[in-house]
Amino acid sequence: MDNGKIKHIGVFTSGGDSPGMNAALYGTVKVAEQHGIRVSGILKGYEGMIDGHFIPLESQQLQKTVHRGGTVLKTARSERFMAVDGRQLAFKSLQDNDIDAVVAIGGDGTFKGLIAFSEISKIPFIGIPGTIDNDLAGTDFTLGFDSAINTAIESIDKIKDTAESHNRVFIVEVMGRDSGYIAIHSGLGVGADAILIPESGEDFLQLLKKVKDYRSEDGFIVVVSEGDELGAELVASKIKELNPEVDLRITKLGHVQRGGNPSAFDRMLGIRLGAASVNALMNGERNVMAGILDNQLKFTPFDSVVKQHQLNEELYGLLKTLNT
Ligand code: F6P
Repeated sequence: MDNGKIKHIGVFTSGGDSPGMNAALYGTVKVAEQHGIRVSGILKGYEGMIDGHFIPLESQQLQKTVHRGGTVLKTARSERFMAVDGRQLAFKSLQDNDIDAVVAIGGDGTFKGLIAFSEISKIPFIGIPGTIDNDLAGTDFTLGFDSAINTAIESIDKIKDTAESHNRVFIVEVMGRDSGYIAIHSGLGVGADAILIPESGEDFLQLLKKVKDYRSEDGFIVVVSEGDELGAELVASKIKELNPEVDLRITKLGHVQRGGNPSAFDRMLGIRLGAASVNALMNGERNVMAGILDNQLKFTPFDSVVKQHQLNEELYGLLKTLNT
């Protein structure tokens, strides 16, 4: 394996935090140390890159954080990096700190940032998909998605108890800005009565048919993705219009889905992708995201990963069956 000229890697987390990011940091630093490569953590994503906020990282400290949610490097969504001036400052900071390669952990905003950055920076970048939304192509699962759906399922199970006790309809909104992945997985997992996702508008009509016949003899759970075009409130008011008898509540799970200890799957995924990112840099890869496709490590160019992750056809079929 050729180490090339890489002596110092910078690593950062960016965008919405996701459980498993700390495990990815640990995997990155542990493998870099084995090859005698120094690693600096860049604090608060692109913001810290612009401001030159770097700290030395050691695997010994990070090992203690593998089981913790959030990100020890902090994170942010950076307005300044969107402008070319901000990106130029960031490039200068990396050069001033002798950073000759970067590992970026984040979602589609992070990768769009890297695509723009690569126009002015010749520094090689490797990406790790870190977002609960599972909305990136080039990997079957993003870091944090599995933990988020487990959190969502645990919460909706509890809502089901109270829904059944009161014979109520609950509209439960889950996260996923433009993607129905969290809704479909958590909705199927709890045995929801209907699931509404941005990718499938016509399911709303099916829901109305079902709810029209609902006679308040049991609970009724509708899982709605936050990215769905109608949204929880409008869905609720349409249901009430159609069937004024129903006793209905809306619950938005919100940021609880982003926190908590990572699942076993996300810890493993983080460590695997962290390790893979350093190995990829040493093998001369650049501007690609490490992902797992069909349980194989794969590297996909940034411009292909920001295309929306297509919904799995089989799951989509299941969703249709459930919604009828
Ligand atoms: O991208 C992850 C995510 O949690 C989305 O599901 C959600 O729309 C968004 O981030 C919320 O962002 P913020 O943390 O800025 O409120």
